[in-house]
Amino acid sequence: MIRPATPEDSAAIIELVVAAGMFSADEAWLVEGMLAGYFDANGDDGHVCVIDDEGDGPLGVAYYQPKPATDRVWDLTMIAVRPALQGRGRGAAMLRGVEEDLRARGQRLLLVETSSLPQYDRTRAFYAKLGYEEEARIRDYWAAGDDLVVFRGAL
Ligand SMILES: CC(C)(COP(=O)(O)OP(=O)(O)OC[C@H]1O[C@@H](n2cnc3c(N)ncnc32)[C@H](O)[C@@H]1OP(=O)(O)O)[C@@H](O)C(=O)NCCC(=O)NCCS
Repeated sequence: MIRPATPEDSAAIIELVVAAGMFSADEAWLVEGMLAGYFDANGDDGHVCVIDDEGDGPLGVAYYQPKPATDRVWDLTMIAVRPALQGRGRGAAMLRGVEEDLRARGQRLLLVETSSLPQYDRTRAFYAKLGYEEEARIRDYWAAGDDLVVFRGAL
């Protein structure tokens, strides 16, 4: 079941995104800060964090937020599924849920930032499979030899 994340889910979400390789252990504080800000804002910032939970805590997580100063454009800031459960449709179901929510609210575009490194080949294949198109690249953005790849999905 996909449900809104609660403050009690924070530690498990952080553990999940690090285990999935979205953030290194050294970067866990970034996610911690993002979630703390999210729960403090209590919806006022328009951000949304949902988890895939079958009763035992998060198996997957998705976080999305409106892009300031745009007309109904959103960023998918993070999406991750527990490594042992990847490749079984959970990520696709979460992304479809995000799209449904945004479409129902009349939103226009969903953008996703990822990396050109080979370890993200499957991640890029995931977005392409779900109909997202590679729209832009900034070379050497994350680090030398590691480009920013932006995928675009029309809602
Ligand atoms: C990217 C991610 C969220 C996709 O979720 P998922 O549940 O594994 O993906 P799904 O099963 O719904 O979709 C599978 C499709 O995506 C691709 N895919 C991406 N990652 C995959 C993986 N680890 N295993 C198998 N397929 C994967 C394949 O094209 C696959 O298609 P197929 O099943 O026809 O072969 C998940 O693999 C993940 O958490 N990856 C690590 C973190 C990450 O890269 N997050 C995005 C950062 S921008």
